[in-house]
Amino acid sequence: MYTASDNRYATMKYNRTGKSGLLLPAISLGLWQNFGNADQYDSMKAIVLGAFDRGVTHFDLANNYGPPGGEAERNFGKMLKEELYAYRDELIISTKAGYYMWPGPYGEWGSRKNLIASCDQSLKRIGLEYVDIFYSHRPDPNTPVEETMQALDSIVRSGKALYAGISNYNAEQTRKAASVLNQLGTPCLIHQPRYSMLDRWVEAPGTTDGKSLLDVVEETGMGSIVFSPLAQGRLTDKYINGVPTNSRIGRALPNGAIQTKDLSADMIEIIKQLNHLALERGQTLAQMAIAWLLKDHRVTSVLVGASSVAQLQNSIDALNTAAFNTDELQKIETILSH
Ligand SMILES: NC(=O)c1ccc[n+]([C@@H]2O[C@H](COP(=O)([O-])OP(=O)(O)OC[C@H]3O[C@@H](n4cnc5c(N)ncnc54)[C@H](OP(=O)(O)O)[C@@H]3O)[C@@H](O)[C@H]2O)c1
Repeated sequence: MYTASDNRYATMKYNRTGKSGLLLPAISLGLWQNFGNADQYDSMKAIVLGAFDRGVTHFDLANNYGPPGGEAERNFGKMLKEELYAYRDELIISTKAGYYMWPGPYGEWGSRKNLIASCDQSLKRIGLEYVDIFYSHRPDPNTPVEETMQALDSIVRSGKALYAGISNYNAEQTRKAASVLNQLGTPCLIHQPRYSMLDRWVEAPGTTDGKSLLDVVEETGMGSIVFSPLAQGRLTDKYINGVPTNSRIGRALPNGAIQTKDLSADMIEIIKQLNHLALERGQTLAQMAIAWLLKDHRVTSVLVGASSVAQLQNSIDALNTAAFNTDELQKIETILSH
């Protein structure tokens, strides 16, 4: 039986999630990959418990994580029951609905039917009475946003989640969703967008009045938790000299995981230059990539993945990073503009 480290709150930084009362760790752990059937249970348990020992209180799931879908929730539920249940009130556990999960017209997207049925399934798999955050995983072009947001509001009011969140909504969709949720009396806690040095769409103007997603997040009082901060492992030194067989690209995983085609010669050149700069700063590229995201006060938490305890520890050590000076920030811009 696991006993958490007495020092678990000694070094982690906690940031307020928008205008809410909820503090999230600056680094959170996501269970999209490495927590499925093909992965070793002892290894995933070591990653989760190692994270909690360093003050990572937030674990992010979705109905479809595994692979196959549902397995990450089941595996996390087993850890919760066997190791972590005594610490339930120290944990923020999130899950989501929106991507394909079961056959027929109700197994994906943003209908009330999908969200509420999926939430019930997730609670059963994890073995919880409530999750802390429940997300609409993606906007649904064919369902009125009012219906999707009413479903989130119902889930919170019924006590199955404490807070509502949205993921992958663009800036305009985010404004609308926030407005509907505010009218319903369940403010949107948080947005979960993809954001890394290699994918900066959240900074670009996206509304008719020229606001970016990050601007809208701040304007609406939400927090943000940014996913794939290492561009799924490309913002590390692992692909500089080829593709290791045990890497995400080497394993050729399905469902949105990066593939060989995502690693062009130009991309490798950019990674090499970023890696050189990180080493000059006395850190790994993974650490520099995480610290670069956290310099923006609108980023509440950086949501990392990890396939080993060593990776996770390395990523958390990004918090010991010195602030960037103007020269370093300019060098990063120059490298990324190639
Ligand atoms: N809302 C959404 O639509 C959505 C979509 C995607 C992800 N997410 C969330 O975001 C989380 C993180 O996504 P992600 O896994 O793509 O994030 P990521 O942090 O960009 O990539 C994680 C991968 O990078 C490598 N890695 C991690 N730390 C490393 C380190 N310190 N040194 C060297 N390599 C390192 C590992 O790859 P190897 O396996 O190659 O070792 C690891 O599996 C997910 O688990 C999920 O919770 C949400």
